[in-house]
Amino acid sequence: MKKTIRDIDVSGKKVLVRCDFNVPMKDGKITDDIRITSALPTIRYLIENKAAVILMSHMGRPKGEPKPEFTLKPVAERLEELLGQEVIFAQSDVVVDASVEAAAAALQPGQVMLLENIRYRKEETKNEEPLTGQLAALGEIFVNDAFGTAHRAHCSTAGLAAYMPAVSGFLIEKEVKFLGDALEDPERPFVAIMGGAKVGDKIPVIKNLMKKVDVLLIGGGMTYTFVKAMGYDIGTSLLDEDNINLAGELLAQARQDGVQLVIPVDSVCAKEFSNDSERIICDSENMAEGYMGMDIGPKTVELYTDIIAKAKTVVWNGPCGVFEMPNFEAGTKAIAQALADSDAVTIIGGGDSAAAVEQFGVADKMTHISTGGGASLEFLEGKELPGIVCLEEK
Ligand code: 3PG
Repeated sequence: MKKTIRDIDVSGKKVLVRCDFNVPMKDGKITDDIRITSALPTIRYLIENKAAVILMSHMGRPKGEPKPEFTLKPVAERLEELLGQEVIFAQSDVVVDASVEAAAAALQPGQVMLLENIRYRKEETKNEEPLTGQLAALGEIFVNDAFGTAHRAHCSTAGLAAYMPAVSGFLIEKEVKFLGDALEDPERPFVAIMGGAKVGDKIPVIKNLMKKVDVLLIGGGMTYTFVKAMGYDIGTSLLDEDNINLAGELLAQARQDGVQLVIPVDSVCAKEFSNDSERIICDSENMAEGYMGMDIGPKTVELYTDIIAKAKTVVWNGPCGVFEMPNFEAGTKAIAQALADSDAVTIIGGGDSAAAVEQFGVADKMTHISTGGGASLEFLEGKELPGIVCLEEK
């Protein structure tokens, strides 16, 4: 168990907090602030406990250069509204300079400042000096609360831990609790739903989950690589050619281990990758020539809904179809609804499946929605995340 901010005295200290404020933006406006609201419990606790709070985050991938479209200024403004107090924005193209050092030195207990996008500096993603040392000089305690970036070994996510006491914030604590409990001590039956386009991307997760779950339901574009591995034609459906054999091996492994690895029995298919394309339903064993699978079909929805209804723990990562297109959203929507209706502990890996439960209006019915896309996937793979490993043990 890692230490959290509850386990150390933060009063009167300058506390450097890494958050993941990598929020989606459109025309300079934040379109979804969940990553900011998720960081509030930690920030509020530090304010209440009289720490001087210095926040750090990245936004996008500016590749080590200041790029105005990636400034964190809009985040500072939103944070100020949410906290109801001033958030000093330490604007600097080099993140830390003499004026930022002076502002940090002058920061009083209960005050909050936010540094500029940490990826304006090229050292950040390489975890190199002099950036880590410059950041370390600003504070006395390092708090990592950026679960979404915990799979990166960067200056601000891991490097700082070598300089000062390093503990987790409440968001990382919560993410590790929900994802960790599901993997280590799930109430059974434990069902995982894995969707998404490429089998290759999900193989390590599928392999790890097969050791833990009772049933693994496959959906999304990767379905057709499995169907191909089963020896059927797949029309013009997405195929991860390099991984057909691996898909076959996973099916054989599941049979050997007595795990139910369930492949969709039918699909909603279309001639073109377009919402307006004509739709037909095909059984997986009988995909029509010239058509591609775009969503799981009605028989699969029924099968998956029944399995989910009996589950006590469900982890979902990756949509079941092209849910961004209204004509191909039905499968993903039905799965989201099945999770909403279930009494099971329901955990949504970040990214697209989080967007799906949000889009279908059932986000508040889920037990936990992870704020990490890549990070939750690596966690489910069973990998150690550098931004968590570096923190002190209790
Ligand atoms: C994310 O959005 O997944 C995190 O903020 C990490 O971003 P990155 O993939 O650019 O490191």
